[in-house]
Amino acid sequence: MLEAMKKRRAIRNFESREVERDKIETLLTAATYAPNDRMREPWHFYVLQGESLKRYEQVALDYLQKRFPAKPHLVKSSMEAITKTPLIIVVTSAIVEGDEGATKDNVFAVSSAIMSMWLMAEQLGLGMVWRTRGVGLVHDTALHDFIGASGKEQLVGTLCIGYPAEEIAAEKKRTPFAEKTTWL
Ligand SMILES: Cc1cc2nc3c(=O)[nH]c(=O)nc-3n(C[C@H](O)[C@H](O)[C@H](O)COP(=O)(O)O)c2cc1C
Repeated sequence: MLEAMKKRRAIRNFESREVERDKIETLLTAATYAPNDRMREPWHFYVLQGESLKRYEQVALDYLQKRFPAKPHLVKSSMEAITKTPLIIVVTSAIVEGDEGATKDNVFAVSSAIMSMWLMAEQLGLGMVWRTRGVGLVHDTALHDFIGASGKEQLVGTLCIGYPAEEIAAEKKRTPFAEKTTWL
């Protein structure tokens, strides 16, 4: 288990080939086994490929051009995160009206589900990165509106997935736990 966790990497460059339907379904199945408070199973998955992903490109382009009107190079490089990704899964978490604690717990559960998908992706020979910033558009309304999420859902992750087209670093240095741990 520890080896698998050490090997997991954020992958941002993908081959153009499509991800097979059965592999996508395995990723989604892995997600649904995540721990979650009171079995609210607060996640929802929006799968973008092919034509729907093409339509999302336009939404992201409009957003970036509005946000960075004087930085066309930044817009162009940011767009590659979508145009060179064959599969995007947007994951949302249910908002529990009037219960901030439960709403937060739902985000924790959805984060666990995303981590399960990340590890599952590696085992399936896929690469993945969890994006929130830039074209991840988690902190904006544009992607929320595009996928048709309800007002009772909040975006947690935009997962870019595909077959890796980059050298995968064996291990990324981490601060030893001793520097992050207080034994009481
Ligand atoms: C909540 C969250 C948000 C992230 N957002 C982005 C993002 O917007 N763009 C990006 O390139 N990577 C993003 N990442 C990936 C991190 O940059 C990456 O996990 C980190 O650099 C550690 O590298 P590793 O995953 O290969 O260990 C995000 C990761 C998490 C957990």
